[in-house]
Amino acid sequence: VKLPAIRNEPMYSYAPGSVERRKLAEAIKEIRDHGPYEVPVVIDGKPVKTGQLEEQRNPSDHQHVVCRYHNATDPALVTQAVEGALRAKESWETLPLYDRLAVMMRAADLLATKYRYKLMAATMLGQGKNVWQAEIDAAAEAVDFLRFNCKFAEEIYAHQPPENSAGSWNHVEYRPLEGFVFAVSPFNFTAIAANLCGAPAVMGNVVVWKPSPSAILSNYFMYQVFEEAGLPAGVIQFVPGPAAEMAQQLFARPDFAGLHFTGSTVVFKGMWKTIAQHIDTYHAYPRIVGETGGKNFHLIHSTAPVRSTAIQTIRAAFEYQGQKCSACSRCYAPKSKWPEFKEHLLTEHGRITVGPVDDFSHFMTAVINRPSFDKITKFIDHARAADDCEIIAGGTYDDSKGYFIQPTIIVTTNPQTKTMTDEIFGPVLTILVYDDNDGATESWRKAIDLINTTGTYGLTGAIFATDRLAIVDATSRLRHTAGNFYINDKCTGAVVGQQSFGGARNSGTNDKAGSANLLYRFVSPRSVKETF
Ligand code: ALA
Repeated sequence: VKLPAIRNEPMYSYAPGSVERRKLAEAIKEIRDHGPYEVPVVIDGKPVKTGQLEEQRNPSDHQHVVCRYHNATDPALVTQAVEGALRAKESWETLPLYDRLAVMMRAADLLATKYRYKLMAATMLGQGKNVWQAEIDAAAEAVDFLRFNCKFAEEIYAHQPPENSAGSWNHVEYRPLEGFVFAVSPFNFTAIAANLCGAPAVMGNVVVWKPSPSAILSNYFMYQVFEEAGLPAGVIQFVPGPAAEMAQQLFARPDFAGLHFTGSTVVFKGMWKTIAQHIDTYHAYPRIVGETGGKNFHLIHSTAPVRSTAIQTIRAAFEYQGQKCSACSRCYAPKSKWPEFKEHLLTEHGRITVGPVDDFSHFMTAVINRPSFDKITKFIDHARAADDCEIIAGGTYDDSKGYFIQPTIIVTTNPQTKTMTDEIFGPVLTILVYDDNDGATESWRKAIDLINTTGTYGLTGAIFATDRLAIVDATSRLRHTAGNFYINDKCTGAVVGQQSFGGARNSGTNDKAGSANLLYRFVSPRSVKETF
């Protein structure tokens, strides 16, 4: 058997009057009319109602409860999830690869067709994505992760050592990990949740999945897609619950075999430390895979085309309210082009409208929840009060109905000001205008040095220039500062199968979502030699 050619899922435009727009509007209406969904924990394919109900609310309208979900606060339930998963593993891991691929390919097809609009609608209402951001995420990227992971798995299994000596033969067996994988997914991409569970599962592992409290509805629908696609009960256990307590409990088990995490640097490091404390407990060294924070940059050269660079910068900073892990939040612009660049930035900024998520018109909607709103607005207030910062656009916010923050552009003279160094995860862009009058190469290198010496992250970054020597120089000198590096393109929007995604330093283990490399992390290969 061979997989069909895998290509990126085509995206729709949702133009007014289109069938897609009508279908999506119907899906949104259905979720609204349904009223709050009741989402259970799902263990061994069976819903469990713990009675410990929590709410997920629409970020654009905090009176709108999208769902109530049962939280797994009882450690006995979490134990049940692990034990059920390990029972499911006995048959799941012995299935021929193609049977596992069949499940994942079917899940991808269901997502691309039958569930496309439902999953998008849940991502819009629950996680505050506008229609195009929801399409990129819950439709295209989620489908791509599932399909491309099948392709990578097939390639891995096909990869065998080429040499056999006379009278013997060798092969490599790609054993799933000995135990269970704990997947902890974030609110900001429904697709990431699909990958955090799907990547270990396609390699024969079983997964205890803790979804983000701010993405429960879409993630539950995703779970249902896996189930409808024929995933055996127990292979992925859907367990919303208290993250810290669950982690403490799961990391103390000898059969903890892997962590697949996307979230904050602080939480990930805390988890790593807990795992370290239990290192003598485990059957095997656990695989720790995490994508964490970022402080992503755009660096602009005096030879860059000004208008298109401004457009890319606005998009990278403000799409999805700056809540992509890849979002641009610091920008270095040359003084010689600053007046022109500023004018284009302000023109593009002026085109942005901020409003409710489901009226198909706004470029930006609300940020995810109260803690995010409070954290982001503190950064804005800090800039307003700082002598070395000037807010040149936005800077206002309003939480009376939803968590709305206007796209905010700050110009600073201090490369180490707080909004230049700290991850904000919101619609705030800080610009430093660097002096490029002191010789082209020298000033460019000074700007590069500023990037290299600011902060501790290494996720994404982009440079904009037409001068080839400047491009080559920056590409070389910034090689550790971004796991995803873009030349003349914005620093967001990695496409599965085209740019594998992830960063190093404090941004993660850089195991690259959307690549075979990630899947290798969830197997423990065995070399087998047989002599005749
Ligand atoms: N993969 C997402 C992007 O590149 C986070 O924007």
